[in-house]
Parts: sequence; structure tokens; C-alpha cells
Amino acid sequence: MNYRHAFHAGNHADVLKHLVLARVLALLARKEAPYAYLDSHAGVGLYDLAGDQATRTGEWEQGIGRLWQAQDLPTPVEGYLEVIRALNADGRLRHYPGSPELARRLSRPQDRLHFNEKHPEDGRLLKDNMKDDARVAVHLGEGWHVPRALLPTREKRVVLLIDPPFEQADELSRCVQALEEAIGRMRQTIAIIWYPIKDERQLRRFYQDLSKSGAPKLLRAELLVHPADSAERLNGSGLAIANAPWGLEDELRSLLPWLAERLAQSQGGWRLDWLIAE
Ligand SMILES: C[S@@+](CC[C@H](N)C(=O)[O-])C[C@H]1O[C@@H](n2cnc3c(N)ncnc32)[C@H](O)[C@@H]1O
Repeated sequence: MNYRHAFHAGNHADVLKHLVLARVLALLARKEAPYAYLDSHAGVGLYDLAGDQATRTGEWEQGIGRLWQAQDLPTPVEGYLEVIRALNADGRLRHYPGSPELARRLSRPQDRLHFNEKHPEDGRLLKDNMKDDARVAVHLGEGWHVPRALLPTREKRVVLLIDPPFEQADELSRCVQALEEAIGRMRQTIAIIWYPIKDERQLRRFYQDLSKSGAPKLLRAELLVHPADSAERLNGSGLAIANAPWGLEDELRSLLPWLAERLAQSQGGWRLDWLIAE
């Protein structure tokens, strides 16, 4: 386990993932009923963009750095940016929320949150960062066991974020297995899988497997910052969203072109379609 998310916090892939997560939670908050949020590969929860690791790559400058001062923010971006503004009250962008902190700040008193992280040091930091919130449980176990360990939840609505580091060749197929297991245990699970856009051949297989996963419906949202013609670099990233809440597709149809323009490096692009239509 060499991957440390601190090197990548706030990059274009985090912006896509966190913005969509924020919108999913906002759409769920239209109803009073509680939801559970499960994060199988949680990271440390909160990142210092002026710290050694983030500074060494500077990836955040091409991600959240480009949105921070933008004057033309579409309305759906506001909730996500408000969390970041609250973390940086002096107006200088330094602290960036990982998915746990974002979910913690956007959820309500009646919601419950389960964060899982396997790396012992990152797990300890995560526990420390989350210690004052009684709604949060931090687990230091195997992320691939989360669907089996925590589903079904007593809440009727559940969001599961599956965000592995993709250090190993089998992680795309493990994501599909985790999705199948989640849907098998709780059919209405809103599962969000993040994936890198690198090797097109591997992705074609992944899309095929996703479309046979048995999810009631599955939305694919992708954001490219380079043309998808190299397997060596991160051209962009995607999210496969099972049981995407009503309204998300329409929002993303206007958000993704805006993001692609804002975050393009050599060339921006986007895609939004249903791998499984309802
Ligand atoms: C991409 S990062 C997560 C970022 C986080 N979800 C966010 O958006 O802020 C992936 C995390 O998974 C952890 N990890 C790696 N293998 C794991 C496993 N088998 N089970 C659980 N966590 C794992 C890594 O230590 C890393 O912190």
C-alpha cells in the first residue's frame, strides 16, 4: 500500500468526485428521512494543500485551484465550494476536504456515516480528524468487505462511495464485484465508483461488466482534461453511479461542459450516459 491521497488531494479527479458526491447528498436532503453514507476507501478526511505531499505535485492548482476564484460558478457547485470556504475562512485556499469531511459537513443530524481506511497511518489520522462527531464510525479494515459488513443499513437510503487507489490490476473488477454485492444486499444502494481514464481496453471491459452488474440503473459521468489517447497518464476520470437520484443527470448535463472548460489541461472533454437505463 504505497498510495497516499495527500499527493493528489484537490486535483481534477477529486473535483469531479467530490462535486458529484455533494450533489447526491444535496438531492437526498430534499427528504427528511435519514440516509447512511459509507466510504470504503476513505483516506484521511482532510488535507493540507500547503503540506509537503500536496506541494510536491501541485496537482490541486489545476483542480480546486481553478475553481476557488471563479466568478461564474453554476448554482450546483455552491454547496461543495461552501464547505471549502468554511474550511478556509481567511480567504486563502489551504485546507481541502476529502470525501469523509465533505460528507460529514453536508449530512444532517439524523444521518449516519461510516468511514473505512486500511492504511494504518492514514486510518489513525482519519480517526483523529473525525473524533468529535458522534454520527461517525471509523473502521480500519478491508475496504472490499464494506458492502458485506455494513449492508443492509437500518436507514432505507444509503450512499456507498467506492474509491480505491488503483494500485493493483484487479481493482476495476473488484469495484464491479463490490457493486454487485451492494446491490444484492440492498437493491436501492446509491453506489458511486470512481475510476481513472487511462487504458481504453481495460475500460471497455469494465463498462461491459458494469452494464451486467444487475443495478436497477447506472449513470456514467466522465471528465477529461487530456485526450483519451495515452494509457501512461491520467487523462481524466469517471464515476459510475448506480441508482443515481432523480435530477442528477440534468444537473450534470450542464455542469460537465462547464467543468471540462474550466479544468482542461491539453484538451477538455466529457461524457454522460446510462450504462443501464431504468
Ligand atoms: C483515492 S484514496 C481515497 C480518497 C477519498 N475517498 C477522498 O475522496 O477523499 C484511496 C484510499 O484507499 C486506501 N486503501 C488502499 N487499499 C485499501 C483497501 N484494500 N481497503 C481500504 N482502503 C484501502 C488508501 O490508503 C487511500 O487512502
